[in-house]
Amino acid sequence: MALFKRTRREDVSDPAKLLVADHQKVERIFDEIHASEEVVPRQGLVAQLDFEFSMHATIEEQILYPFIRANVPEGDPMMEQAEHEHDEAKAALAALVNADPGGDAFEGAVRELEGLFKAHVKEEEKTVFPRLADATSPEALATLRADLEEAKFGSTEPRPLEAEAPAPAKKSAARKSTAKKATARKAAARKATAKKATARKATAKKAAVKKAAAKRAPAKRAAAKKAAVRKAAARKAPAKKATARKATARKAAAKKAPAKKSAAKKATAKRR
Ligand SMILES: [Fe+2]
Ligand SMILES: [Fe+2]
Repeated sequence: MALFKRTRREDVSDPAKLLVADHQKVERIFDEIHASEEVVPRQGLVAQLDFEFSMHATIEEQILYPFIRANVPEGDPMMEQAEHEHDEAKAALAALVNADPGGDAFEGAVRELEGLFKAHVKEEEKTVFPRLADATSPEALATLRADLEEAKFGSTEPRPLEAEAPAPAKKSAARKSTAKKATARKAAARKATAKKATARKATAKKAAVKKAAAKRAPAKRAAAKKAAVRKAAARKAPAKKATARKATARKAAAKKAPAKKSAAKKATAKRR
């Protein structure tokens, strides 16, 4: 199998290497779908398949096929056929996306799309890509590769092809589910920590408000005391004034009394 994979990438042009890597990626997704029996992983894999296949078909139709039509002898009829095969595969993909992953029709929809895909890939790798390489200069092939990369990745920065890099270990459905659970656990832990932090902040705020109120209380009490004293003093003031007035009157009367007595004495003596 490894030898077959290496052979598919050897002695092919640069743009073909990129596209063969795409083909192999889609094939791996098919293998994972066959190995999967659970509904949820199947749904995820079909979504991946939809994304990878649609992306690949789009860059071929927008960049590669017009280039072949313009530069490769007999390119037009070859691309007519390729586009027809793309259309058939897209219809089969739509049927698979709409199939119930737990239903009886699911396996049949997968096999239908896989058959169309493999036949088309075989035609491209055995016939289309070699004819493209034969008809095109190395410079033009390099430009075509850059155009395909830019359409796919949005950049012409050099990057290792997936098919050229060491093959990643296959993730089983169980491993994926474990990773999913771990991610969910991490998210839950993050949420709980954030909740605790919010509660801690609210408690600290309440404590600060209490402390400030306690600080203000003695000053408040002292002010109330002063106000009470002032009120009591105000209440006593009229009585105090009356007492003072009475005392003044008494003093004035006492002063007048001796003069009165002496006048009476004088009057008595006169009468005698
Ligand atoms: Fe294609
Ligand atoms: Fe292709």
